[in-house]
Amino acid sequence: MKMWDGRFSKPSDALMEQFHNSLPFDKTMIEEDIDGSIAWARALKNIGIFSQQELDEVTNGLKGILDDFRHGEITFLHSDEDVHMAVERLLVERVGDAAARLHTGRSRNDQVATDTRMYVKKKLIALQSLVEELQRACVIRAQSDIEIIIPGYTHLQQAQPILLAHYWMSFFFALQREKSRIEHAIEITDIMPLGSGAMAGSGFNLDRDKLASDLGFSSVSYNSIDGVAARDFILESLSALASCAILISRYAEDIIIWSSKEFSFVEIDDAWSTGSSMMPQKKNPDSVELIRGKCGRFVGNYMRFATTCKGVGLTYYKDLQEDKEPIFDSLYQMEMILKVLTQVLLTIKVKNESIQKNLDPFLIATDLADYLVKKGMPFRQAHKVVGKIVGFSVESGIALDKLGYQKLSEFSELYTKDVEQLFVWETAVNNRDIPGGTARSSVDKQVEIALSMLQQ
Ligand code: ARG
Repeated sequence: MKMWDGRFSKPSDALMEQFHNSLPFDKTMIEEDIDGSIAWARALKNIGIFSQQELDEVTNGLKGILDDFRHGEITFLHSDEDVHMAVERLLVERVGDAAARLHTGRSRNDQVATDTRMYVKKKLIALQSLVEELQRACVIRAQSDIEIIIPGYTHLQQAQPILLAHYWMSFFFALQREKSRIEHAIEITDIMPLGSGAMAGSGFNLDRDKLASDLGFSSVSYNSIDGVAARDFILESLSALASCAILISRYAEDIIIWSSKEFSFVEIDDAWSTGSSMMPQKKNPDSVELIRGKCGRFVGNYMRFATTCKGVGLTYYKDLQEDKEPIFDSLYQMEMILKVLTQVLLTIKVKNESIQKNLDPFLIATDLADYLVKKGMPFRQAHKVVGKIVGFSVESGIALDKLGYQKLSEFSELYTKDVEQLFVWETAVNNRDIPGGTARSSVDKQVEIALSMLQQ
């Protein structure tokens, strides 16, 4: 027996029932469905569809269903095609006649759009706090690693010396932009379609503004067609989450490399590593590998639903039911990733001694050129001079920092004794004290800015 079988002469095929059933995944938003129905029942009471007593019965019935669901005491039927139908059936069984009025002026089209928006918004808000936790971990790391100098890389070749704290802060500021993408997704999700009916607007003039404030929405949709058809809030959320996952995968990649024996810059805590079933010596950075690997889902989930949406006419078509699995998956996976990565960062051990052994004196080459520029030589010329010095160092096997100023002055008489100062790592780092640079003073400033951003 279906809610809609009045016009049908035979039941759906069993395979069809299985095919279009969304209950296994949309029951995830049963709480939103029930909250939405309670608010809807209240609105119906205000226009005289329900008596106070009926409203109480329906409200208590709905709350009871949620309670029982949480305690695993609900039995769903094969014929419950989605969470909305399941809740309605259960309510009819529990409270009888009053329940039959609940769907007055409402369609599953505006109901599902409302439920999904409530669920997505709630999860995105929670993710924003988790992004902030990760940002806090970056700041904590920056503060505790402020003395540590590492080689900065381009092309996976040592490029210039930087403070490790500078690296962690780069993650902080990039995450700040991810947060604003999520913020934007929240804004466009935070619009209530309820009252749009099937597509033309509800035939009952209930107070949509009051409904919106009951359900925690900032505004109501202006147009019922747009209200039931729009799924750009899902695409925007999927896109924001994909962007965040892509960013995170890049930092995961560095941590994976850094934890290898060849680099030995960090050691991931045992709690966030796993072993090998065969090789007893192995300690694998699975946490960060999975974080990197899961990026595929986020991009896939966006592509998957964007492809579904393309060409779907107005207003509701069943195609749109395909929104839930990708968005639920991306929301859940991002929650896990953020929690895990925060712990990985907070517990990671930085192996300063082995980092220092890895610092290649060639990291100072740019500084050697800048030195000449500061003494009046054009940069292109200075670049050539230092290129020759590097070539000499490679050929002779004498490390750049062991050449001494006299040898250097053979390449340019502008080099004097003080050039040797450049080979002190701290000096090289602190020379880059432009805002945004890697000097200690600049990184301290970055931390200060970050802390004030976190307080806003
Ligand atoms: N399960 C459906 C979905 O998720 C609910 C809306 C059904 N509406 C309809 N006209 N069949 O999209």
